[in-house]
Amino acid sequence: MNDIPVPQKKSLDDATITVLGLGHIGLPTALGLAELGRRVIGADDDASKVRLIRAGQPHFYEPGLTDLLSKHLKSGRFQPLEDVAAAVRGGSIIFICVGTPQKTSGQADLAQVEAVARLVARNLNEYKLIVEKSTVPAITAQWLKRTIVRYNPGRSPLAAGESTPGAPSPAPLDFDVASNPEFLREGKALEDFFHPDRIVCGVESERAREILTNLYSPLQRPIVLTNTSTAELIKHAANAFLSTKISFINMVSDLCEKVGADVSAVARGIGLDSRIGPQFLGAGIGYGGYCFPKDLRAFIHLAEEHGVDFSLLQEVERINQRRVDVFVRKVRQAVWTLQGKTLGILGLAFKSGTDDIREAVSLKIVQALRNEGSILRLYDPQAMPSAQRELPAAPGRLTYCSSAYEAARGAQALLLLTEWEEFRQLDLARVRNLMEVPVLVDGRNLFDPDAVRQAGFEYVCMGREEAGPDGLRAHPGKATA
Ligand code: UDX
Repeated sequence: MNDIPVPQKKSLDDATITVLGLGHIGLPTALGLAELGRRVIGADDDASKVRLIRAGQPHFYEPGLTDLLSKHLKSGRFQPLEDVAAAVRGGSIIFICVGTPQKTSGQADLAQVEAVARLVARNLNEYKLIVEKSTVPAITAQWLKRTIVRYNPGRSPLAAGESTPGAPSPAPLDFDVASNPEFLREGKALEDFFHPDRIVCGVESERAREILTNLYSPLQRPIVLTNTSTAELIKHAANAFLSTKISFINMVSDLCEKVGADVSAVARGIGLDSRIGPQFLGAGIGYGGYCFPKDLRAFIHLAEEHGVDFSLLQEVERINQRRVDVFVRKVRQAVWTLQGKTLGILGLAFKSGTDDIREAVSLKIVQALRNEGSILRLYDPQAMPSAQRELPAAPGRLTYCSSAYEAARGAQALLLLTEWEEFRQLDLARVRNLMEVPVLVDGRNLFDPDAVRQAGFEYVCMGREEAGPDGLRAHPGKATA
């Protein structure tokens, strides 16, 4: 068995840390902790991912990750393992970073979290601090604690029978559970790890408090200390609030179009109020990704389960779902009929800086346009391999292109769906010359309207196209339409 020697020294300041789950959260967290000088074991039960990571090639794109991985494979401070049980035995601080997908009901599926709890129960060879990092609903920590006690071989005769070979038999139940939710954004995961706005630690014992505050003290950032349920709720509330901000500004954007106002100026005007803040007021095609849609639904479900009427969040979700129609309608208004039109698509990832297409609004828009019979030429700097798996190329109907310029070739409109910096830097005159009709529909308000119009485009964007440079409505009559 691939066992890791348990460190003899009892001080937990240099204890080995085990990170379970090496996805978008687990791997950056593991490497961030290694960079802080800790010895880290990373494990995942998907052996193919572990093999890639061991070869220095993360299975997803995240800026800076490959370099940090290579650094800590070399330094020996990061050790990727397939044997999850050995990884549990080898660490004194266990970070749970496994997936918490959603069930069809919207509820968080905690099967992987429970599986980790059972594994910990059977491999509790010394004191361990079990830390939830995955986003989980309130009171999951209490369930973790109960599950570890229930399935510990010393307590459960049946579990003793299932005990992993090589695992020590009945050990004292010496463990704590803590909640330390992650706030890492994809595309900025390492930046967020090293420079977090705050660190939330939900603890139930002095020992756990001391371990976590020592662990994060090198970052010199505010630490919010709470109990575990509060920490769990903070995470869901943060994502729900940010989603609310986005849906709010998207409705303001629709209203701006009706009255000839400019949503970017409105966002700036309200965002400079320190009580509101400027971030997450970017109007556009709506939010996507693995976290916001799923976490919002899980939070709604939690509220319903406890009899709390949080229909505000149902409305936030409904507004977001309507963004696909809002955008497709804009494209239709710009090009008239969609059937047989050649459309260039810039951006497939759910946002820039990632190759992740999970719940990407861009892909929903692509599907809708495809259903309308448009001919699509797609390009994304990172997300094409993942998009191709979901939406295979179809000769003459759907083509993956090698550059933004290729996507624009022969197009009757170009649609901007992901805010990659590469697109902001495009040579607009060259793009225009490649297109059959120079129409640009900007779903992220990435471009400066004046610059695009000067380059010879008809430019359509979100919540600001009716306003001219002097702030006057270009088509005053439309406000009453
Ligand atoms: C989010 C949270 O920000 C992070 O703290 C949490 O831990 C994980 O979930 P992430 O999913 O990586 O991070 O993306 P984020 O940058 O928050 O963007 C989410 C979605 O909102 C994207 O689709 C993005 O395009 C959209 N968005 C964001 C807007 O539409 N407008 C904005 O102003 C900001």
